[in-house]
Amino acid sequence: MSFDYINALLKKITSRTPIWVMRQAGRYLPEYRATRKQAGDFLSLCKNPELACEVTMQPIDRFDLDAAILFSDILTIPDAMGLGLYFSEGEGPKFSNPLNTLASIKQLKKPNVGNELSYVTDAVSVITKALNNKVPLIGFTGSPWTLATYMVEGGSSKNFAKVKGLMYENPAHMHQLLDKLADTIIDYLNGQIQSGADSVMIFDTWGGLLNKQSYEDFSLQYMTKIVDGIKREFHGKIIPVTLFTKGGAMWLEQIANSGCDGVALDWTVELNDAQQRIGAKVALQGNLDPCVLYASPEKIREEVKKILSQFQGDTGHVFNLGHGISPDVNPEHMKVLVDAVHEFSKR
Ligand code: CP3
Repeated sequence: MSFDYINALLKKITSRTPIWVMRQAGRYLPEYRATRKQAGDFLSLCKNPELACEVTMQPIDRFDLDAAILFSDILTIPDAMGLGLYFSEGEGPKFSNPLNTLASIKQLKKPNVGNELSYVTDAVSVITKALNNKVPLIGFTGSPWTLATYMVEGGSSKNFAKVKGLMYENPAHMHQLLDKLADTIIDYLNGQIQSGADSVMIFDTWGGLLNKQSYEDFSLQYMTKIVDGIKREFHGKIIPVTLFTKGGAMWLEQIANSGCDGVALDWTVELNDAQQRIGAKVALQGNLDPCVLYASPEKIREEVKKILSQFQGDTGHVFNLGHGISPDVNPEHMKVLVDAVHEFSKR
């Protein structure tokens, strides 16, 4: 099996630039909203392997995408650690038992991935079967730092006062938490790889909040531990790993030195600049501003052309948005995007 998406991450020649889109299975698709309704709520959808498979396949059936991504969430791990994840409508994720004391961090138990998180690896198996080698499957996790922000804040946050306060005041506890998360994530990603994931991605949504030194100490160090700890080859396949630090453009060199295969970029950096800085070392993923999808089909095609022409050479580019697709985007515009990437990148 030779997939453009995998080949691009391994910096091999591809027939055209592959594309997938962060949050490609989501609320902008009416069929997703219908399945979520059937499941009852978002978390029940994640915990039902058959329905998780159904929504994973929806964008694959509708668009000419080059990869599928496991339908799940990064917050499954803290949920399995007993924090009680729930989603309140319009407010994003919340925890009923956040880490609000030093003792709660000390007492935090690593979950057994094979038990508490078996619904995730089961979903990977069901999806792998449904895909039937049509396109590769991406497994994923949040970074330890990004998971810690939600666990300490108790949900999303405006200024991250609690988690950054903890980092400055009690760095040893912070490291203890991050280390437990990194070990759990290694088991979690290996479980996904053994169940059929062809590639994995680490989402560090909130790494960009940190300064250079704290980024290296509290975020990148633990992602590097994960990159070192996961199976990079399984059943004769190489399993590429991609790191995404939103707001991480200042530290691309350090990210590329983590040992990862691909670095995903948000839209704040020019692809050719990034390529000059690190492109020979790793593949690049990105990086169209998600808001371009609010513009007309003509404008979308123009912006796609711009991004493609910034990238030098035929190897090592996976097209994507610089962050997730928004719920109010017209699905027809997603089709324009996917088809434009293929049309303008034919070798
Ligand atoms: O990309 C995909 O299609 C795969 C599925 C996926 C989801 N979440 C589904 C989801 C992935 C890869 C994620 C990762 C994730 N989850 C991240 C990292 C990536 C990023 O966006 O920065 C983060 C920070 C989360 C935590 C999370 N989950 C938040 C903040 C929210 C609320 C967001 C919102 O827009 O309301 C979620 C919920 C969530 N995860 C939804 C989906 C499709 C929307 C839930 C719904 O259907 O109501």
